[in-house]
Amino acid sequence: MRDRVVVITGGGSGIGKALAMLCAGQGCRLAVLDRDAGRAEETAAEAARGGAARALAVGADVSREEEVREALERVEREMGVATAVFAGAGIDRGGAEHELPGEVWRAVLATNLDGVFHTCKHAIAGMLRGGVGGSIVCASSPAAFVGFAAGGAGAYSASKGGVSALVRCLAVGYARHGIRVNAVVPGATETPMMWANVAEADVERLRGQIREEIPLGRLADPSEPARAALWLLSEAASYVTGSQLVCDGGILAKASISF
Ligand SMILES: NC(=O)c1ccc[n+]([C@@H]2O[C@H](COP(=O)([O-])OP(=O)(O)OC[C@H]3O[C@@H](n4cnc5c(N)ncnc54)[C@H](O)[C@@H]3O)[C@@H](O)[C@H]2O)c1
Repeated sequence: MRDRVVVITGGGSGIGKALAMLCAGQGCRLAVLDRDAGRAEETAAEAARGGAARALAVGADVSREEEVREALERVEREMGVATAVFAGAGIDRGGAEHELPGEVWRAVLATNLDGVFHTCKHAIAGMLRGGVGGSIVCASSPAAFVGFAAGGAGAYSASKGGVSALVRCLAVGYARHGIRVNAVVPGATETPMMWANVAEADVERLRGQIREEIPLGRLADPSEPARAALWLLSEAASYVTGSQLVCDGGILAKASISF
């Protein structure tokens, strides 16, 4: 990954931040994009201390196409064309679908699906302009493939199903340009998003319950899906495109019926 220009959306926290630190350790030039500009600054500062050849923080909301376009153009001006892009910015807002307010549905889709589309669109456009190939990794979820038992995840699941479908289309469409597009499918990972829809008083009990349900018996550390994403971004995965790399402790492999 040395000398690659890497862009990480959602790099201010969780899996994106863990990936930023892994890329920093490999001496990348790094742009950390997050709608929380302060957190993006913090990650960039840590990445600079952690070995990044450059670390730029960009405050931008991925749901707004102009902000994504401007952010990627700034990266190109200051560091060169981004050839490794992680579309990780995401939110999770749940609720029973029959009473889910339209604005919650639209907010989830706007960040998780429109945001990934904007990121891929402008990253690919930059690679094509620059005449270079590259690798894009989008954050999907087991929710793209199954309905969560607890329910109320319709908007999130629809957004991630869209991400996984978009990844396949982009992989096929841009392979001839040397652009690979894959999804990483993290399972339950210890980040702020994991508990976004859980009352604080319930977190410990639910953490215990989830541990029992996951075949590997624990939640993931953010560095674990980040390592899967790093592999997909790197030349070690040079023949991998259109894949959904599952890193979920066995969640998707498991049937719920225990007969
Ligand atoms: N944590 C999990 O269990 C889990 C499981 C499966 C998939 N994922 C996916 O992995 C990705 C990263 O999740 P995480 O757990 O690290 O979450 P996180 O909440 O720790 O980090 C997400 C980051 O995205 C940023 N962000 C949110 N909306 C944005 C927007 N509109 N524009 C720019 N930045 C925005 C947030 O400010 C935050 O820094 C997400 O796409 C998530 O859906 C997470």
